Amino acid sequence: MTDDPIVDVGAIAHGGHCIAHLDGQVVFVRHTMPGERVRIKITERNKRFLRADAVEILTAAPGRVTPPCRYAGECGGCDFQHIEAAMQRQLLGDVIREQLSHLARIDWDGEVEAVNPEALGWRTRMTYAVRSDGRLGLRRHRSHDLIAIDECVIAGDGLPPVLGETWKADTVEAVGSSEGDQLVVLGGNHGKLPKLGGVSVVTADGERLRGRASVTETVGGHSFRVSGSGFWQVHPEAAGTLVEAVMSGLDTQPGETVADLYAGVGLFTAFLAEAVGESGTVFSVESDPGGARDARRNLHTFSQVRLVAESVDDALRDNALGESLDLVVLDPPRTGAKHAVGPIAALSPRKIAYVACDPAALARDLATFAEAGYRLENLRAFDLFPMTQHVECVAVLVST
Ligand SMILES: C[S@@+](CC[C@H](N)C(=O)[O-])C[C@H]1O[C@@H](n2cnc3c(N)ncnc32)[C@H](O)[C@@H]1O
Repeated sequence: MTDDPIVDVGAIAHGGHCIAHLDGQVVFVRHTMPGERVRIKITERNKRFLRADAVEILTAAPGRVTPPCRYAGECGGCDFQHIEAAMQRQLLGDVIREQLSHLARIDWDGEVEAVNPEALGWRTRMTYAVRSDGRLGLRRHRSHDLIAIDECVIAGDGLPPVLGETWKADTVEAVGSSEGDQLVVLGGNHGKLPKLGGVSVVTADGERLRGRASVTETVGGHSFRVSGSGFWQVHPEAAGTLVEAVMSGLDTQPGETVADLYAGVGLFTAFLAEAVGESGTVFSVESDPGGARDARRNLHTFSQVRLVAESVDDALRDNALGESLDLVVLDPPRTGAKHAVGPIAALSPRKIAYVACDPAALARDLATFAEAGYRLENLRAFDLFPMTQHVECVAVLVST
């Protein structure tokens, strides 16, 4: 017998947990699904809510499966290993709906689109932490504790074989590109390297230790150099899927003036440059020096591209993007673009494509765009992080 409490589980919430109630308090419960009755172990208490893990499933919901990963429940990397893939997408859709309704008063009746029926073996970039014994590990949920890992079922086959080796570094990032390049990026002080069959190795600061310091990615006929741990989407279908969603949402015309904000190594810039042609202009704004360097190299054939290697907020404040724009693409980090929304709207673009990896930040910024005269024309969501609570959205806004 155990004294651990039993709860009835309600809706999914942002963050991958479900909401339950215990003695009048809200409990965020992991490893469960809406409609289940579960025994929980409390993992955190604070004044406003509790956190808990489901430790025994008393009534299972439809769509519950045996996790394919032997570390499920322990490892903090995946939240949805116990949920069948189509049901994962349904729950992600519910999270987007709830955030849009709650934060932006927007009713969304769309569905999260599957980009690949295979929910395993998709990651083209994996960052592991190094344990004190030199083995690689992943962190427990909301913890600094490391679990030693011998395999990761969401890691792709094309990654360099870093697991099973002993490392001296703080972190080891394994990268496998669409062109078959393999690269290892080491964070922190490093020691002697394992052999790894001649795979390229670089430090997070860009020091080349073996072979090349970058990989090449190819999308829709364009090639992109991505150095070290520079940003590139982790799902192999992501870059192409997002380019298609952005370009079909914007309907870019030759001669237009466009901005690609948070541009990384220039993914959207290349396609926008092609669409506006030599009579148009594309401002490509990226603040990370490594990303901006790669963008310069990747985009050098486009005379219509103006590279702006500073933060979006600075570029907008300094009028680096001129007096007005026809179109804007923005693809900010998880925190969104809170301070950029007003200045972007002030440039009066006819359409805006907002690529977002956090539906809460997106919903908050859509509410601010609405106050500035932009309404949501279309929102698509893509299952680009299967087995996890993460989801990618592309929202297209029009001037009202
Ligand atoms: C989600 S990534 C998108 C990159 C690119 N659009 C792509 O799809 O490959 C966000 C990018 O914004 C950059 N970034 C973060 N904060 C920034 C800021 N305040 N101003 C400009 N760029 C920023 C990051 O370095 C990163 O390259």
